[in-house]
Amino acid sequence: MKDFKEFFLMTTEDAKRYAVEVLGRFRPDEKTDCIEIGDGNINYVFKIWSEEDGHSVIVKQADRLLRSAGRPLDQYRNKIEAEILRLEGELAPGYVPEVYYYDEIMSAVSMEDISAYGNLRKVLMAGNVYDHLAENFSTFVAETLLPTTDLVLAADEKKKRVKFFTNPELCEITERLVLTEPFYDFRGENKYQSENAAFVEETLYNDDALKVEVGKLRERFMNNAQALIHGDLHSGSIFANENGIKVIDPEFAFYCPMGYDIGNLVGNLYFTWANKAFTAAEDTAVLTAIEETIRKTVDLTWEKMSAKYDELVEYPFYKIPAFKEAYLAGVMADTFGYAGTEIIRRTVGSSKVMELNTVTDPATRAAMERALVKVGVRFVKERESLRTGEDAVRAFRAILAE
Ligand SMILES: Nc1ncnc2c1ncn2[C@@H]1O[C@H](COP(=O)(O)OP(=O)(O)OP(=O)(O)O)[C@@H](O)[C@H]1O
Ligand SMILES: [Mg+2]
Repeated sequence: MKDFKEFFLMTTEDAKRYAVEVLGRFRPDEKTDCIEIGDGNINYVFKIWSEEDGHSVIVKQADRLLRSAGRPLDQYRNKIEAEILRLEGELAPGYVPEVYYYDEIMSAVSMEDISAYGNLRKVLMAGNVYDHLAENFSTFVAETLLPTTDLVLAADEKKKRVKFFTNPELCEITERLVLTEPFYDFRGENKYQSENAAFVEETLYNDDALKVEVGKLRERFMNNAQALIHGDLHSGSIFANENGIKVIDPEFAFYCPMGYDIGNLVGNLYFTWANKAFTAAEDTAVLTAIEETIRKTVDLTWEKMSAKYDELVEYPFYKIPAFKEAYLAGVMADTFGYAGTEIIRRTVGSSKVMELNTVTDPATRAAMERALVKVGVRFVKERESLRTGEDAVRAFRAILAE
């Protein structure tokens, strides 16, 4: 039997043994069971539980090869994930699973089981737009982002973190899948309804003014080491129930404009909105709730970020109100810009979302795609003049009314 002193990709039986021998979470004679619950493209996620009292643990293991494509992917991503989960747990207690152990040899993070929460994408599609969402989203981003910048951290500590969280292989995925391919289909992997071919050519591929703006966002993503971001904060990385949210899967973390995280979070809410608007327009309660969630998330993020700024920033120039205003306005412009690129890439790019995939009527799906691309383009191009929750919802309402 293999011990755990040299890396190998575990089976469920290995994971059960690992939870006893390495983690010490179960007695050697305790009856346990294990399933692999990974539903993503990248890693393996084992859930091990006691058949006696039900207590459980999650072990997320990063293989040397990408799960979906079989090509090599740096296992350092797992170390980044363990460390940012630990940091986020300190900054925003209760918002991420507790990390029990990080195992560099096995490339495995062992953590709290958050199975009592459901994948936000599915939760929202089921019509459960909990009242607390905007409060919790805005608290999570305000608590975890600004304190990692050098407006707050000492310059040397911040630079040490930039070095630790340098994540080139996962950044390359974002640079390609989010910030290049949707606008320039050089590998022929974009996917959308065939009746939208001319629309996509005109609105995305042939619009140099749009590409200039996407280019600016791409260049900022690659060069502006503003804050330690989660890096993949879409609705499948957030879990929710009636009591609150839990954020998982921060393996794309690195230093980048914080608007990338906020934009991902906000941008993904438009998929629920679009899905419900096109397939369940009679369900006005859900439509209103999702619109309110977007509006409040944007406004509360500004308010809480502003309060956090007053609480934590001490450097005299940065305390001058005009500097603070410009800084926060920049964060919001990035938020709209990256919400736009996220909406566009999930609509026409290779990586899709269930809110679109589950719409089987071609004409409905094509209309949804056009509405989403239009709002995404507007957010990218007009981001400098967009700031409030009302700006965020007004734009899509107008497009839906066309
Ligand atoms: N701490 C946890 N508690 C309960 N379930 C979890 C936990 N972590 C992950 N999962 C489950 O495993 C699934 C995959 O986890 P995760 O998204 O972290 O994996 P991944 O391979 O990095 O995925 P992706 O391809 O999206 O990057 C989640 O959608 C969730 O259902
Ligand atoms: Mg992941």
